[in-house]
Amino acid sequence: MYTRNLVDEGNGKFNLMILCWGEGHGSSIHDHTDSHCFMKLLQGQLKETLYEWPDRKSQGEMRQRSQRILQENQCAYINDSLGLHRVENVSHTESAASLHLYSPPFQHCQTFDQRTGHKNVVKMTFWSKYGERTPFETTVSQENN
Ligand SMILES: [Fe+2]
Repeated sequence: MYTRNLVDEGNGKFNLMILCWGEGHGSSIHDHTDSHCFMKLLQGQLKETLYEWPDRKSQGEMRQRSQRILQENQCAYINDSLGLHRVENVSHTESAASLHLYSPPFQHCQTFDQRTGHKNVVKMTFWSKYGERTPFETTVSQENN
């Protein structure tokens, strides 16, 4: 799995965090709760797949819009008007680390089932905050972003 590690809360204006991705691990398809999301690859590579928002009447496989590999030091941006995405470390031999800035900060997002487009609300959790491991109860991992 991957871990979310809070680096700074920006006086309530943003959340800055480092995500650490084990080999083969990835996020679910998710939205960004009307926030801006900037990310920068610190180490390794990540695959980003963009999806269209499922429309209310059509059920079934979610429509994929594009796919790219983010390289070390590369930056990316997404918000809800650009669509949804899934981020994955597809390497079987290298871990990856990425720096994420979300503004304004948010506590929940929605995840989507690729096969059906059905969505769920999930709570954001941190594996660590300011370099300290967070208590286990609060880190039972949902997913993402
Ligand atoms: Fe995301």
